[in-house]
Amino acid sequence: MKVFIAGASGAVGRQLVPLLTHSGHEVVATTRSPEKVEAIHAAGAEPVILDLLDPDAVMAAVVRAQPEVVVHEATSLTSLGTNMRAFDRAFAETNRLRTEGTDNLLAAARAAGSRRFVAQSFAGWPYAREGGPVKAEDDPLDSHPPAGFRRPFAAVRHLEAAVGGTAAIEGLVLRYGSFYGPGTAMGEGGVYVKAVRDRRFPIVGSGAGIWSFVHIDDVADATLAAVEHGAPGIYNVVDDHPAPVAEWLPYLAEVLGAKRPWRVPAWLGRLAAGEHGVVMMTEIRGASNAKAKREFRWQPRYPSWREGFAKTLR
Ligand SMILES: NC(=O)c1ccc[n+]([C@@H]2O[C@H](COP(=O)([O-])OP(=O)(O)OC[C@H]3O[C@@H](n4cnc5c(N)ncnc54)[C@H](OP(=O)(O)O)[C@@H]3O)[C@@H](O)[C@H]2O)c1
Repeated sequence: MKVFIAGASGAVGRQLVPLLTHSGHEVVATTRSPEKVEAIHAAGAEPVILDLLDPDAVMAAVVRAQPEVVVHEATSLTSLGTNMRAFDRAFAETNRLRTEGTDNLLAAARAAGSRRFVAQSFAGWPYAREGGPVKAEDDPLDSHPPAGFRRPFAAVRHLEAAVGGTAAIEGLVLRYGSFYGPGTAMGEGGVYVKAVRDRRFPIVGSGAGIWSFVHIDDVADATLAAVEHGAPGIYNVVDDHPAPVAEWLPYLAEVLGAKRPWRVPAWLGRLAAGEHGVVMMTEIRGASNAKAKREFRWQPRYPSWREGFAKTLR
């Protein structure tokens, strides 16, 4: 198949492009940087310089490529780091990529006659913070996200509605869990790993917020499966073991050979990280991967963050 991937040089794209080409697909892959073109070539894909926020350029590039499948993996979260106070600002560009970028890419995919569209979403803070600890795709989303999440949340909802609501294109939304592994913020040299090593990543309040992780290799495998088969719809792409912060964070510190994370009360966490920071540490819910396993015939290579952290971060 011919596959057009926006965001080929990113944490997901770098793993996904070689998987696609090794699986026999013809891949057209985008970056904004001429310096990254060579790496895309080396992975067996045809590079295209493209800014997803330029609608005319997106239209021209996709129509020229005539892909059967379009994949949207463009985000811009490098400045997110661990400063939760800057969360809204750090998400501004990603919000645009999830709204305008998605609309540009969908319009171009329609014009090119593409059959399928696969896009990145998130399985963490969007789910409602009520009921059971682990959510399926059709469980309600948060009806009153804290102020710090509102714009990122609205952008995710826009992307999911646009991708799911386009007649004549099979839309698949992949709600990835929190990434870890090479090239991610929770990989060697990544900002979260550094923060845990420096004891700047405390457990806040109860630490009862449930996080679903996914190794970046499993993200790539599941995304390849979504390109190739599976019904249109929304899928959680996460591992088998959603876990509370109070469990995974001390384990991560142990794996990294760091001291145990500090514990700080919620009021102090609120001062330092805002309400949304406290919510992430105390209230968010995890996600179930049952649908992705069933529909994509996908099994995570790292079913548990415990073995994944130990194998890839120790
Ligand atoms: N679910 C999760 O846990 C999750 C999700 C996303 C990110 N993250 C974390 O955040 C870290 C940083 O993420 P990131 O999003 O900054 O980087 P990234 O995943 O390394 O790359 C983002 C990709 O989006 C592309 N892109 C950005 N702006 C674009 C635009 N205007 N037009 C076209 N393409 C554009 C980039 O392309 P060029 O720069 O080459 O043009 C790049 O290929 C990651 O390494 C990961 O750990 C986590």
